[in-house]
Amino acid sequence: MNTTATLGTDNMAMAAVKKPTEGTDVSPFELAAEHATVGSFEVENAKMSIKNVNVYYGDKQAIFDVSVDIGKNEVIAMIGPSGCGKSTFLRALNRMNDTVDGCRVEGDIRMDGQDLYSPKLDVVELRARVGMVFQKPNPFPKSIYDNVAYGPKIHGLADTRVDLDEIVERSLRRASLWDEVKDRLYQAGTGLSGGQQQRLCIARAIAVSPEVILMDEPCSALDPIATARIEELIEELSQNFTIAIVTHSMQQAARVSQRTAYFHLGQLIEVNPTEQVFTMPEHALTESYITGRFG
Ligand SMILES: Nc1ncnc2c1ncn2[C@@H]1O[C@H](COP(=O)(O)OP(=O)(O)O)[C@@H](O)[C@H]1O
Ligand SMILES: [Mg+2]
Repeated sequence: MNTTATLGTDNMAMAAVKKPTEGTDVSPFELAAEHATVGSFEVENAKMSIKNVNVYYGDKQAIFDVSVDIGKNEVIAMIGPSGCGKSTFLRALNRMNDTVDGCRVEGDIRMDGQDLYSPKLDVVELRARVGMVFQKPNPFPKSIYDNVAYGPKIHGLADTRVDLDEIVERSLRRASLWDEVKDRLYQAGTGLSGGQQQRLCIARAIAVSPEVILMDEPCSALDPIATARIEELIEELSQNFTIAIVTHSMQQAARVSQRTAYFHLGQLIEVNPTEQVFTMPEHALTESYITGRFG
């Protein structure tokens, strides 16, 4: 199931997505001609609104005309075969793709109506408002305290040490890590277990009071117990934040999300309530994927 790590190169990713049209009567070329996403890709209370987004690496297109809304306080899961563009799409939402050489994003991405690709926008501030948690926990080589305090410090969110202490404690509590680390705040973040490190990265992301949290396969390096804790945490966090999570695990998507988006060869095929996607998918390609015919 978890093959992402071994599917690093273009060729291998393509091999993984070549099979999909077997067993369905839809070819990728027909899909490209239609530009059609089926299902409920628009919502009334959109936090983010994505319209006609294309992403290219050099002259190779990785995302094709994707339009979808992300509702306020919803957890939306993004699933699909390796190499279908999930990470590329997620990175477009906080302009992390700006940091990738040769990557170009076209289309319209808004948060609360604000154009996130406006040249006037402060990208550093944007990445605090739209935080990101990666596949591999990546704490800074600093103390647990400093990992969490770093963002609030550079964004000027705390006037005094007491304020900063408060933000650190609150963030660690919200990431359900406080009890495990309160007696070792000044030890290295990298000394924690993998699951604790990932919760530390979540605490670091929420310390700057983001509005949206993007998670790219946040549990794929974790054991089942650490995974279960992160999943519980996602549910709690969704009361205060909007969350978009890429996951390789359909079970995880089913457990944590309210809507699920299915990507295939860079196209958004279907967005629907999660339960529907896993019981009565609207598109033949979604059905092939969830029934394990490819992926
Ligand atoms: N930095 C990059 N440079 C060139 N191509 C890339 C880069 N990152 C991803 N790609 C390509 O874009 C496509 C989508 O990749 P990705 O978004 O990583 O898919 P997923 O996260 O669904 O596995 C793949 O064909 C991949 O090889
Ligand atoms: Mg990925």
